[in-house]
Amino acid sequence: MSYQSLLVSRENKIETITVNRPEKLNALNRATIIELSQALNAANSDNDVQVVILTGAGTKAFVAGADIAEFASYSSKEGEELSRNGHQSLFDLAENLSKPVIAAVNGFALGGGLELAMSCHIRVASDNARMGLPEVSLGVIPGYGGTQRLPRLVGRGKANEMIFTAGMMKADEALNYGLVNYVVSQEDLISTCVKIAQKITKNSPMAIAKTIKTINASYQEGLNGFDVEIKEFGKCFSTDDFKEGTTAFLEKRKPAFTGK
Ligand code: COA
Repeated sequence: MSYQSLLVSRENKIETITVNRPEKLNALNRATIIELSQALNAANSDNDVQVVILTGAGTKAFVAGADIAEFASYSSKEGEELSRNGHQSLFDLAENLSKPVIAAVNGFALGGGLELAMSCHIRVASDNARMGLPEVSLGVIPGYGGTQRLPRLVGRGKANEMIFTAGMMKADEALNYGLVNYVVSQEDLISTCVKIAQKITKNSPMAIAKTIKTINASYQEGLNGFDVEIKEFGKCFSTDDFKEGTTAFLEKRKPAFTGK
């Protein structure tokens, strides 16, 4: 599929999706949100993809937020719809994808940009990255999950401070708070993400999908993460990947997982 605002490439089961609006610092307009949703759905249903890397074009920004120009004149109703549609079509989709999504945060990740990075399963930042939720400086609140996901990642106190002050966190501070897993030079950013992705591709896609589901369950209302773990653990035993993984170990060879 070809996209207006995205670049998509694939190598060795690792798909890289690049938001490509560098002249607007990769801000998320409606069209880009729809395309990201399409690209993630396509990756999710393609057996030839095991890991997704999400990044922004250029050297300045991952994503500088939702497109302010687009929503500046919205009514309350339109604002609520924008938020709901975004949650459902992109941010929840990324978080619940059955394949790991790694955010390569290559510069500003602000507002919807940080919210997008936080919906990914793993974040790696370049040393020039700046992260924040500056919405209150625009007279609005984070609307793509920021009020929920930021406190989970950095703790409520730091999240409160970041959101109330509309401040930007530098990459090394983000590393200290666990908001990102690694900080590397911009030059090494994608290769670092690829190295993590390559380690993931050696493992069972079926088990990884179940792991994502189980870890996410602890944050979902009405679900008991421990119960979900027990059930998903049990289901693994009737899969090809489980038979292959255990047999390969006993036969002292590398497993050839099919994801089934
Ligand atoms: N929505 C729409 N356009 C955006 C944008 C956003 N979130 N962020 C940046 N842009 C556009 C700018 O309007 C500018 O477009 P123009 O050249 O047509 O005027 C272009 O991207 C470059 O941005 P600019 O502000 O000139 O770059 P800068 O280096 O001076 O500042 C930022 C960089 C990130 C500090 C600044 O762009 C900014 O504060 N952006 C908004 C961040 C934000 O509040 N995000 C949350 C939105 S809810």
